[in-house]
Amino acid sequence: MNTKRDIDWDHLPNHIAIIMDGNGRWAQKHNKSRTEGHRAGSDNLETITKEINRLGVSYATVYAFSTENWKRPKGEVDFLMGLLRQYLKKHIHQAKKENVKVRIIGERKQLAEDIQKQILILEDITKDKTGLFLQIALNYGGRDELVRSMQKIGQDLLNNKVVLDDINEEIIQKYLDTAEIPDPDLLIRTSGEIRLSNFLLWQLAYTELYFTEKYWPDFSMDDLYEAIYQFQQRKRRFGAI
Ligand code: FPP
Repeated sequence: MNTKRDIDWDHLPNHIAIIMDGNGRWAQKHNKSRTEGHRAGSDNLETITKEINRLGVSYATVYAFSTENWKRPKGEVDFLMGLLRQYLKKHIHQAKKENVKVRIIGERKQLAEDIQKQILILEDITKDKTGLFLQIALNYGGRDELVRSMQKIGQDLLNNKVVLDDINEEIIQKYLDTAEIPDPDLLIRTSGEIRLSNFLLWQLAYTELYFTEKYWPDFSMDDLYEAIYQFQQRKRRFGAI
């Protein structure tokens, strides 16, 4: 395994996206409940984002709750929403001490009202932070994001704010939840699943994909360095020769 020492610090990925998968299997492996797995996953989200910020990576996007996750048992959904409440409260409280700008992506109208309010507060009090720009995907689906952005474009067409000939990739990008920020350079998915699961479908077009068997709660700083090291060995192509 490669370590921190092997990393080329001048060529870090600018934007790292993470599908944090395997909380349930981690729990099963340790004879714990699924909720304990999610708590461990949430703790690891804190650890890893702190480290990503410390390394000097500019952007990170993490998949915390998908549009499909509502289909899970109510108790599990409620627990995840509880974890989210704790996360938002903690980071609103700590915002002064941290240099992380937070943005929530996904359809927030379906989230509980108190959560929507906390999201607005956290986004507002971190908006001028100059460290890591952290996007947390909540009630997010790539296809849903595309549908919502097409509706917004349609609305602006009707209101003559855009004309048909103006619509190009750059304009579409501005209508996505991730507007104004560069696409991910590296996507990490934990727990051995090798698929995108409706995450950042537009934005991952040229992203380097990295899959590891580790369950999310076990994904350590060393695993992060390994992922960055492997990314740095790749020759990025963007369609050109
Ligand atoms: C996948 O594990 C993980 C999720 C569905 C949720 C991800 C959430 C966290 C890491 C913590 C939540 C943090 C906040 C801020 C809400 P899984 O349950 O699909 O695992 P399995 O595939 O092994 O069952």
